[in-house]
Amino acid sequence: MQTIRGFRDILPEQIRLWQKVENLAVDLFTAFGYEEIRIPILEKTGLFARSIGETTDIVEKEMYTFDDRNGDKLTLRPEATASICRAYIQHKMYATEPVRKFYMTGPMFRRERPQKGRYRQFYQIDAEVFGLDAAYVDCELIFLLNELFQRLGLSGLTAHINSLGCPECRPRFTRALLDFLEARKQDLCDICTRRMDRNPLRVLDCKVQTCQTALTGAPATVDYLCPACEDHFKTVKTTLEKQGVDFSVDKSLVRGLDYYTRTAWEIQTTSLGAQSAVAGGGRYDGLVKELGGPDTPAIGFAIGFDRLVEIMEQLTPASAPPGPDLFIVALGDPAMELAYHLCCDLNQAGIRTDTDFRGKSLKALMKRADKLNARYVLIAGQAELAENALILRNMQTKEQVSIPMDGLRRKIETLLKNK
Ligand code: HAM
Repeated sequence: MQTIRGFRDILPEQIRLWQKVENLAVDLFTAFGYEEIRIPILEKTGLFARSIGETTDIVEKEMYTFDDRNGDKLTLRPEATASICRAYIQHKMYATEPVRKFYMTGPMFRRERPQKGRYRQFYQIDAEVFGLDAAYVDCELIFLLNELFQRLGLSGLTAHINSLGCPECRPRFTRALLDFLEARKQDLCDICTRRMDRNPLRVLDCKVQTCQTALTGAPATVDYLCPACEDHFKTVKTTLEKQGVDFSVDKSLVRGLDYYTRTAWEIQTTSLGAQSAVAGGGRYDGLVKELGGPDTPAIGFAIGFDRLVEIMEQLTPASAPPGPDLFIVALGDPAMELAYHLCCDLNQAGIRTDTDFRGKSLKALMKRADKLNARYVLIAGQAELAENALILRNMQTKEQVSIPMDGLRRKIETLLKNK
């Protein structure tokens, strides 16, 4: 039996980088006042179709959707933003305190063509802020990403930012874009010609080479911003500049989801081949209302956890996991019983202890303790049990002391805690 295409196991040998990233991210989010939220993996299909957009690649081609036994259409979440909005509305969080900041990590599912950095089950670290429309929040999120990457020791990542405008300025842009596309209709792929009528902005996100070529010189949203959006974007740019956050304005960045308004961004890398986006985010000031809640500005981002770890793997050589404080070498049945209880008791007392119940030889068990990188070894052989004293060996100095069985646990505790 094998995993299905695009799905993979993340093995203990790989997991330490994931834990390092997650711990740092949680520290940073907590410091900035974000709270953890956990959302279901399965939601009604309509939630994603309405928020991400019917004409996006995600909804048109990539969602894992199936009919439940009662006929409901359900989908494995392809992203977290829609679900977090649903939770914000469903639990009427806006009524008690409209300003809320959330983070979550977990698996997402998109049926894309698998390759390095692109999986069908992948993980995101997601952050969302509700109830704040100030441009400073946009900056806070970009700064936060930047800070996280710096703390992880990553360089060579650039924030590409753009403004997609709002319902006020979008119609003027859409008209200009449609005029541009009409003149090049014959060069566009079938999907784009279809999308032109329903959602012309999506054409700008097409990956087909002929479309990309045809789109050279297409109108850009930043050139059609209303004064309020212009002002908002200007504050974002000047604030980031003042902070020394590295970014570049990318007029062609439209993102692959429909809900965005105003600032949108991607953090890109050159070290992952074709998969250049390590994180993406933006404002979605209209989505809470669209999903049935009150008019609430919102903004967020998601980091591609798999991609981030892949970049780190290129930089960080794998290091051995920290070993146990104590490994008990138990030779024979009575020793194994003793080892079992001692192992549980010492772990309860906060001393990381491990043992082995295979009944192997002294030599084999010492080898195992060495491999595990244990600080100390407690030897419980027949001779030691007969003499009512076990041997404690410091694996680094090779020093050995004899410890009487009477009050053994407490003596080991004192010895190891003082070292
Ligand atoms: P997204 O750009 O679709 O945005 O995904 C965010 C990140 O997830 C990407 O930049 C990429 O690193 C990673 N990612 C996406 N698809 C895959 C895949 N198939 N395999 C591996 N990694 C992948 C969103 O999902 C939005 N919900 C972000 C957001 C939050 N916007 C506002 N709030």
